[in-house]
Amino acid sequence: MAQHGELVGPFPSGVDPEDYDRLRRRVLWQLPMGLYLLGSAAGSRKNLMTMNWAMQVSVRPKHVAVSIERSAFSHALVEEGGCYALSLIAREDRAAVRRFVKPAEHDAVVGTLNDMRYTTAVTGAPIPEIAVAWLDCEVRQSLDTGSHTVFVGEVMAVGGGEEAEILRMEDTRMSYGG
Ligand SMILES: Cc1cc2nc3c(=O)[nH]c(=O)nc-3n(C[C@H](O)[C@H](O)[C@H](O)COP(=O)(O)O)c2cc1C
Repeated sequence: MAQHGELVGPFPSGVDPEDYDRLRRRVLWQLPMGLYLLGSAAGSRKNLMTMNWAMQVSVRPKHVAVSIERSAFSHALVEEGGCYALSLIAREDRAAVRRFVKPAEHDAVVGTLNDMRYTTAVTGAPIPEIAVAWLDCEVRQSLDTGSHTVFVGEVMAVGGGEEAEILRMEDTRMSYGG
């Protein structure tokens, strides 16, 4: 990602780059977003990471895309393990997403990441116990988009789906990207 103070172009002619950058960031932050926990696994290594760049991208087959920063530990695990689990969280559990903004401590014996218990489904990617719904995916394609890689995964298993207030970015004071 661009370092602080380093403005990313292009800029329309005649604009003040700093003003334009601020406006562009504000508009990008206005894109409505969910807020999820992404489970990744490669062999016995597992991680959970807070993420908001996720969406369904195909009906036949059932494909879901997630965008992961190249430098993230999760990026290495998804690339190597070829799978991920996208978990939806209840709005009342919003505090949990703050626990997964750097590589989580994994206790493989107890089955916890940062002391949160997880289960697995088909792929082995961790699904936190607080998930109200989840999509377990196998990676089919990846696309280098710059700072991030978009991984497109096929839904291999699903869980949850009962009526629930699902956490969205707007339920928090957090932002990402921009
Ligand atoms: C609200 C919020 C949303 C985030 N969304 C994403 C995302 O969509 N993609 C991403 O790569 N990192 C995202 N991050 C950053 C990662 O959570 C954080 O850099 C991270 O845990 C690094 O991943 P790692 O544990 O795999 O190293 C987000 C962080 C926050 C606080």
